[in-house]
Amino acid sequence: MRRFVIVGHKAHTTPDFKLDDLAGGAGRLDVLLRCVNSSFFLSHDIRTDVIVYLVLQGPEDPPRTVRFVGSELRYLNPDERSTGALVRNALLKRSDSEVRSSPGVYVSKMSFKEVLDEVTPLGSVIYLREDGVFYRDRDYPDDVAFVLSDHKNLTEDEESELASRTKEIISIGARSYHADHCITVMNHELDLRTPPI
Ligand SMILES: C[S@@+](CC[C@H](N)C(=O)[O-])C[C@H]1O[C@@H](n2cnc3c(N)ncnc32)[C@H](O)[C@@H]1O
Repeated sequence: MRRFVIVGHKAHTTPDFKLDDLAGGAGRLDVLLRCVNSSFFLSHDIRTDVIVYLVLQGPEDPPRTVRFVGSELRYLNPDERSTGALVRNALLKRSDSEVRSSPGVYVSKMSFKEVLDEVTPLGSVIYLREDGVFYRDRDYPDDVAFVLSDHKNLTEDEESELASRTKEIISIGARSYHADHCITVMNHELDLRTPPI
């Protein structure tokens, strides 16, 4: 299973935003929605071996985590607006334990730390960062979780939380790319190393 964990530092945690204003009033939720798109979409198909965690940390009730499970997903379309609607519907659910808001979409009060607690026993955890080891110079297990930040870097506290679980930092190059583009590159890289289905 491939997992992508993306931290949205300002992304709203209550459904108080308009679908026409995902980049503004939703706290750059657009960045995270593009990550969902890059994680799952093939041409006319959805990757069923991918799980995405969007860790939302903006107002009014942080943290909330929206988890997308590829093998169960329905109603996911390539446009940001409809994925934004899935997230907004998920945020309408007010429960401390994880609940399903639509097929393949789950919402909880999980923090970044708790998400790391969940994914760490399931396989390798790898931090994607500009100054890491070049991504082609290593092997990847089938079970792997990649951690990325949104348009901001991870905070020092988040980095140390991550560093307490993994020392693996990989880079796809010295330039700083958008998080969704990094996911596309990693999906492609892993596809090249996996025999076609
Ligand atoms: C737009 S970047 C973050 C902000 C950026 N570091 C800056 O200059 O403010 C989004 C995320 O994509 C990942 N990323 C960007 N470029 C990368 C690269 N060359 N190699 C690995 N990961 C990268 C990192 O996780 C990064 O936090």
